[in-house]
Amino acid sequence: MFESVALAPPDPILGITEAFNRDQRTTKINLSVGVYKDASGQTPVLPSVKEAEQRLLAAEKTKGYKPIDGDPVYGRAVRELLFGKDSPLVAAGGRAATCHTPGGTGGLRLAADFLATKAGARRIWMSDPTWENHHAIFRAAGFEVEKYGYYSAASHGLDFPALKQSLDQVNAGDVVLLHACCHNPTGVDPTPAQWREIADLLSAKRALPLVDFAYQGFGVGLEEDAESVRILEQNFEELLVCSSFSKNFGLYNERTGALTIKATTPEACAASLSQLKICARVNYSNPPAHGGAIVSAILTDPALRKQWESEVQDMRARIQSMRDAFVSGLAEAGTQQDFSFISRQKGMFSFSGLSKEQVERLKTEFGVYIVGSGRLNVAGMTESNMAALCKAVVSVL
Ligand code: LMR
Repeated sequence: MFESVALAPPDPILGITEAFNRDQRTTKINLSVGVYKDASGQTPVLPSVKEAEQRLLAAEKTKGYKPIDGDPVYGRAVRELLFGKDSPLVAAGGRAATCHTPGGTGGLRLAADFLATKAGARRIWMSDPTWENHHAIFRAAGFEVEKYGYYSAASHGLDFPALKQSLDQVNAGDVVLLHACCHNPTGVDPTPAQWREIADLLSAKRALPLVDFAYQGFGVGLEEDAESVRILEQNFEELLVCSSFSKNFGLYNERTGALTIKATTPEACAASLSQLKICARVNYSNPPAHGGAIVSAILTDPALRKQWESEVQDMRARIQSMRDAFVSGLAEAGTQQDFSFISRQKGMFSFSGLSKEQVERLKTEFGVYIVGSGRLNVAGMTESNMAALCKAVVSVL
């Protein structure tokens, strides 16, 4: 049977790290996958996470299964991060419910399966461009994928007229995937006023928003970055939000995420949760415990939470300083082009505008690995790799 199986291409993001690992050059630089590195080039375990782990290890009494939808305390903490501590959606048993999922990707796939098999959704709209895996996840669940205008290569900003023009084609019952903040791959986000216009447009169309929230705290701040979600929530009776704690808790390999659903009534919410549990059960059965326990421990302990908030702030500030250093480094390396837009982009990524050929030359000639779309992981830049990186980029321009 397996002789007829065709060889698949490498993953457009994780496959680059596989190629990077095979590269023997000691000067190589990996700016492909979105992983935060500190000034020494390490992906650290946050001190708040280490402290929480120590407490959990000391208190742990069992490795018994978690509920299919995860611990209620985790769900509540997730909803509080999303909607704010005073929101009526935080309490259990109301119009919102949360499933603890294996990473944000697990949350997206759970949403896709639920929407396609239990809620009759057929079509999803995604920004052009979007995270490569969005297409693959929703196609795998049977969705037809449409694109909406998003990025202007000329202004390196949001093409809001194109976005509105494409979302005007959306039909009732279509799902629209939105990035809450730190748009992946462009780093370009709508303003709060533009979010209000998007909410008005989509609610007039009776579309269903599905928000991917993977970078809370990496844009402007933990609360500020949730503003888009809160604007949408105020304008829609129903919506879904996928959270990832890979980046803001540094829990990449613990696969810690969530899917939160808001329904029109507590009864509709309970019914939807019951179906989400069926979808989870036939896929991964129930969530991995460790990452969720860390997130719950930190978010429910005021001192640990404060510490974590300041660690998120430090990561955000370091990324911004790398953005600024990259812009000035490119100028010092001799480019005539204006790259100041990189300082204005938000989150981990910079959408450089480099072509496929330039990306290929960066890899083969300089051992600099970035994603084929020209996306660079700014969070992987350090003071020590900056000069070599800027020299390489200017050489291929
Ligand atoms: C990325 O876009 O690099 C991250 O979200 C990691 C991933 O899984 O692709």
